[in-house]
Amino acid sequence: MKPRVSIEPSILSADFARLGQQAKEAEEAGVEGIQIDVMDGHFVPNLTFGPGVVKSLRKSVSLFLDAHLMIDNPHGFLEEFARSGANRIIVHQEVCKDLPTVLQSIKKLKVEAGVAINPETPATAVEGILDLADCVQVMTVNPGFAGQRFMEDQLIKIQRLRREIGQRHSKASIIVDGGVDPKTAPLAVRSGATVLVAGSSIYNQMSTVAQNVAELRKSIAEAAATVNPSAL
Ligand code: DX5
Repeated sequence: MKPRVSIEPSILSADFARLGQQAKEAEEAGVEGIQIDVMDGHFVPNLTFGPGVVKSLRKSVSLFLDAHLMIDNPHGFLEEFARSGANRIIVHQEVCKDLPTVLQSIKKLKVEAGVAINPETPATAVEGILDLADCVQVMTVNPGFAGQRFMEDQLIKIQRLRREIGQRHSKASIIVDGGVDPKTAPLAVRSGATVLVAGSSIYNQMSTVAQNVAELRKSIAEAAATVNPSAL
C-alpha cells in the first residue's frame, strides 16, 4: 500500500561516478521513486544530464523515475524522456506558453504529467490545469543547485494549492522540492505535500542513504498520520 507521503531522492546530490549504485541504495532504502534533475544551463544556471541517464537508470532500478525538466523548450524533449523510461515528466510553468498542450502531449506518451513552479510563481499560474496535471511541484528553493535553504514562505502556496485541489476534486499530488530535510519535511506535509523530493539530506557524507531515508520517514510519520489534506 502506497504511503500517504512518498519520498523521492533527487540524484543531483548523488555521486555521479556511481549513479546506478546510488539509485539502487535508494531503492533498497524503500523510497517510492527518484527524481532526475535535468538542467540545461539556460533556464537554470547549472548543467546536468539528459535522457541517456534516464535510460541507464531504467536498467539499474525498477523504481518510479521522475524527470524534472529544468530546461527551456521542454516540448522538444518529451518523447525522448518517455522513450528512455521516465514514468513522469515535470515541466516548468515558466517556460510553457501553452501549458495544457504540453501536459496533454506528455499524457499521450503514457507517462504522468507534472508542472513545477518556482518560488516567484504564484499558485494561480497553475490552478487552471489542476484537473489535467497529475502533480504540481512547488519549488522551495530557486532551482539549479542542491543544498539550499528551504523557503518557508512557500508553505502558504502549498496550502492554497491543497485547498484548490480539494475544491476542484482534482487528483493531483503536490510535490515539494528544495531544502527538504527532517526539520522542514513535516512543515511541507502539514501544508499538504504528498511527495517529498530530497537531495542533500539523503545523499551526503554524514550517513548512509538508508539511514537518511529512515530519518526523513520518521520525521513525517506524525504529520502524515494526522493531517487530513482535504481539511486544509
Ligand atoms: C534544485 C533541484 C532540487 C535539489 C534538491 O534545483 O531541483 O531537486 O536537487 O536538493 P536539496 O534537497 O539538497 O535542496
